[in-house]
Amino acid sequence: MGINILGMGSYLPEQVLTNDDFKKFVDTNDEWITTRTGIRSRHMAGWEPTWYMGKLAARKAIENSGVDPKDIGLVICSTITSDFLTPSVASLLQYELGIENAAAFDLNAACSGFVYMLDTAHRYLSTDDNLKYALIVSAESLSRFIDYEDRGTCILFGDGAAAAVIEKSDKMYSSFLGSDGSGARRLFARSLEVAPEVKVDRVFDSGFPEKPLRQLYQDGKEVYKFAVKALPKAFNKAAEKIGVTVDDIDLFVPHQANVRIIETAAKNLKASIDKFAVTLDHHGNTSSASIPLALCEYIEKGAVQRGQKLALVGFGAGLSYGSVIIEY
Ligand code: UT7
Repeated sequence: MGINILGMGSYLPEQVLTNDDFKKFVDTNDEWITTRTGIRSRHMAGWEPTWYMGKLAARKAIENSGVDPKDIGLVICSTITSDFLTPSVASLLQYELGIENAAAFDLNAACSGFVYMLDTAHRYLSTDDNLKYALIVSAESLSRFIDYEDRGTCILFGDGAAAAVIEKSDKMYSSFLGSDGSGARRLFARSLEVAPEVKVDRVFDSGFPEKPLRQLYQDGKEVYKFAVKALPKAFNKAAEKIGVTVDDIDLFVPHQANVRIIETAAKNLKASIDKFAVTLDHHGNTSSASIPLALCEYIEKGAVQRGQKLALVGFGAGLSYGSVIIEY
């Protein structure tokens, strides 16, 4: 059993920051950012809370799907930048959008979040005969967790939200989800102070760098090395399960972290770069929202047709990675 995307929607905050705007905070320039990452501008939340961006994206997805909110039985939100530790963003969306008969919860798989969430929703739809429609939403405000004195990371991230309403179908489907927690210290943000005497386990013994609460730390070089391997691996593992090859895929929608990662992965997969959706030039890295934002944009501009085969591939903190292959 597979899934059918009935409708998608997105929301990008009003405020746009160009590469030149970062010269106010750090010693950087447009040339460095463009050649090292491919990013030219990004939207940054000002007045918009994370859950509110999710609501606006989800409302459009529901409208485009033609589904009555009362028939949605599951709401999941993938986010690492929730406005609240509790309740979940999904609970707020369930109420705000008039979804009366649904389970609602958040899911954290960092930048792989949309792929993890889609696969989770697929499993619910596959096993629950009473569940007709699921609403899946990625909403992120990375700008609120950035160290604006760290020029290696602050220029990378953007904010936004994107959502999809999905139903079960007999379309082609495969997935692979992976994790390598030994790399947890390479990309993290602390939410609570952990007492220094608590030696938790192998991960902590190997040393998390110092960083204030709620500020993102990234070891860019190590994450880059992981990403260029994880992207092809995640696709190949999902593809092998159903005997699909690169040639069968019409569009790869990878996590939008760095255009050099996408180019290297395309080379490793022996796939044309033209088969890869790229929106990071104007979105930046929006964590779990990057894949659905890119997919939504490609659908809206008519670059994705019904019946085409899509490979969504995520990678990020955890370190997590995963791929879902679907038919649009
Ligand atoms: O979404 C989760 C997954 N995340 C990723 O996939 C990110 C993966 N990593 C990357 O994309 C890249 O590692 C970065 C874009 C983060 C960094 O690119 P890099 O080619 O690895 O650069 P670097 O960190 O090695 O820095 C090279 C030089 C350094 O100067 P020195 O030490 O060679 O003199 C940096 O200080 O560039 C300097 N630099 C900058 N210069 C101008 C770092 N950031 C900047 C900047 N502007 N913004």
